Amino acid sequence: MRNRTICILAIVILWFSWVAFPRPPRVIKPVNPNDPTNLPDQVTKNVLVIGGGLAGLSAALELSERGFNVSIKEADTVVGGRLHTKDVKLLNQTWPIETGFHAWFNNYFQSHDILERLGVKSNFRRWEAVDYIFRDYEPESIYSKGPYPLNLFGLIHRSPNMKLTDALHSVKSLVDLAYFQYDTIFEKYANTTLEEWARDKDVPQSFYDILMKPILSVTLNRRDIFSAAEMLTYNQIYFLSDSSADHRIITTKNFQDAVIGPWTQLLLSYGVRIQLNTKVEQLVMNNDGSKFISTSSTPNEQFDHVIMAASLDSIQNILKSTEKQYHDNEQIRNKINCLLRKVGKLPMSPPYKVMRVWFDKQLQNKPEILETPHHHPINLIVQYNLLEETYAEWANRTGGSVLEFHLYTWSYGDVSDDRVWDLIRPTAEEIYPDIKDFKILAYHVHSANDFPSFEINTHQFRPTVTYPKECELPNLSFAGDWLYTDFPSALMERAVTTGRQAANHVLLSEGVRQSNIVSINLDGPGIV
Ligand SMILES: Cc1cc2nc3c(=O)[nH]c(=O)nc-3n(C[C@H](O)[C@H](O)[C@H](O)COP(=O)(O)OP(=O)(O)OC[C@H]3O[C@@H](n4cnc5c(N)ncnc54)[C@H](O)[C@@H]3O)c2cc1C
Ligand SMILES: *[C@@H]1O[C@H](CO)[C@@H](O)[C@H](O)[C@H]1NC(C)=O
Ligand SMILES: *[C@@H]1O[C@H](CO)[C@@H](O)[C@H](O)[C@H]1NC(C)=O
Ligand SMILES: *[C@@H]1O[C@H](CO)[C@@H](O)[C@H](O)[C@H]1NC(C)=O
Ligand SMILES: *[C@@H]1O[C@H](CO)[C@@H](O)[C@H](O)[C@H]1NC(C)=O
Ligand SMILES: *[C@@H]1O[C@H](CO)[C@@H](O)[C@H](O)[C@H]1NC(C)=O
Repeated sequence: MRNRTICILAIVILWFSWVAFPRPPRVIKPVNPNDPTNLPDQVTKNVLVIGGGLAGLSAALELSERGFNVSIKEADTVVGGRLHTKDVKLLNQTWPIETGFHAWFNNYFQSHDILERLGVKSNFRRWEAVDYIFRDYEPESIYSKGPYPLNLFGLIHRSPNMKLTDALHSVKSLVDLAYFQYDTIFEKYANTTLEEWARDKDVPQSFYDILMKPILSVTLNRRDIFSAAEMLTYNQIYFLSDSSADHRIITTKNFQDAVIGPWTQLLLSYGVRIQLNTKVEQLVMNNDGSKFISTSSTPNEQFDHVIMAASLDSIQNILKSTEKQYHDNEQIRNKINCLLRKVGKLPMSPPYKVMRVWFDKQLQNKPEILETPHHHPINLIVQYNLLEETYAEWANRTGGSVLEFHLYTWSYGDVSDDRVWDLIRPTAEEIYPDIKDFKILAYHVHSANDFPSFEINTHQFRPTVTYPKECELPNLSFAGDWLYTDFPSALMERAVTTGRQAANHVLLSEGVRQSNIVSINLDGPGIV
């Protein structure tokens, strides 16, 4: 009874505090607001962007729009990186196959800004509630409604598994969640695993399993060593910062048609050169390392600035082979070694697979998207025939279905694609017993290990976009989802935002006004 009174009182206070002090997002303004918005017509500045993922495309957009001569070198046959789409022929038909299903969240400020500029918002729709199943709990349909913290209480109230009174036992965790401070979070918890944190703060097991473990699994990282500092930051971005933080949108078309194609077209219209199938092996510099003469793949090119936006492991390889190349040039070698002292120490996450399977039958009354965080090796199942037109049309015509299975932290080693289904089949049938009667008509497997790891003991090595400046390489910068930003960001949004930061670094050095960067607040919502 007493607990309930405290609870109601807390809710009322919290609600008023929210209404009285709504917190707009934080805007980081250009440091050079009086500089011109564009490069003067008579000036040519050549910029090389290594890697055409979201980070590289974002940097290229900001720079080309302002008159820079931008070249993107992309190793793959298409741009998009971990958001690419490739055409694959199966069952006498060409299918646009993405790396895997993605969701865009409300606090993805830079990403939303770009979607607006591309005019592609109509290719998206809301994804209202996330459906979860667990091994030891009732299924949940998780969504947030109303202002913080009512949204949180509402969610717990609707939950068949979590109890409000349990939440009150974990007052210690409330401090780190409601009074979160980005500026100190890494000092406090960079080397603490989320599990250790949860134990130390008496987080009820159900809360840990239902609210934290699932977010953890979508990082594609190993759960047991994931840093609590990183995760507490994610909690702000995806849930606590404001009442609509967990609102998300998904595409109604494949990623190429919905986003990457229009983005590429805009870049081409600004004169960006996009070279596909062009893997950069190393950087080539003049004798003191002050100018980038070329990359190993294309001699005779000169770049004023280079933005390394490849995945972390690729950047490590490029730097290592550059270091080898300049072994006898102490000046350059020292600069590259300085970069490697941080970048070279960062580990990658385990490999993952995404498998799309064409079946002869359809699931009945099952969620479009189901998260299965307790059913390793399967983390997520998406009914593509309910999401995208090409798939819906085929399913309507044939009565079949196309399911996508996300298989993070793949632990069965290096197996050929034709063995993957056998390995995941028992778990798939446990989740959806109907599948036992389905016949497989075709399948496609995407395998990769391009995810950075955010495990404990790595924060001290995580550089910022402009770290190369500290190594006396002021015209080199990094972009990608593996970097540290001094405001909360994650995943796709971190890729897009660091791309913009890298562009801002170039803009400042060339006397052109920077772009705004928007983030959630550095501090948690508080309680009163
Ligand atoms: C299955 C899956 C689901 C995901 N779901 C979500 C989600 O729901 N929400 C979310 O926010 N994020 C999600 N992500 C994460 C998101 O895709 C990434 O954070 C983001 O796309 C990373 O972008 P990036 O530009 O930093 O790196 P990348 O996309 O990896 O881009 C790097 C690019 O560099 C190229 N390259 C590599 N080496 C070289 C070289 N030597 N020379 C030239 N080019 C090179 C690569 O081919 C690639 O195109 C998901 C990822 C996956 C795989
Ligand atoms: C733009 O950059 C490309 C690649 O470096 C180069 O070939 C081209 O000459 C540059 N354009 C101008 C106008 O300098
Ligand atoms: C593909 O087309 C060929 C020739 O038209 C046909 O014989 C075959 O049955 C088709 N296969 C499928 C899976 O539709
Ligand atoms: C984390 O551990 C590393 C050594 O592994 C240390 O250098 C670093 O200072 C530690 N960070 C914090 C915040 O304790
Ligand atoms: C970096 O670029 C600036 C602006 O183009 C140029 O003036 C400077 O010489 C370059 N510095 C080095 C060390 O390459
Ligand atoms: C498939 O069938 C459903 C239900 O009949 C319908 O709503 C949808 O428009 C159809 N989609 C396509 C692409 O044919």
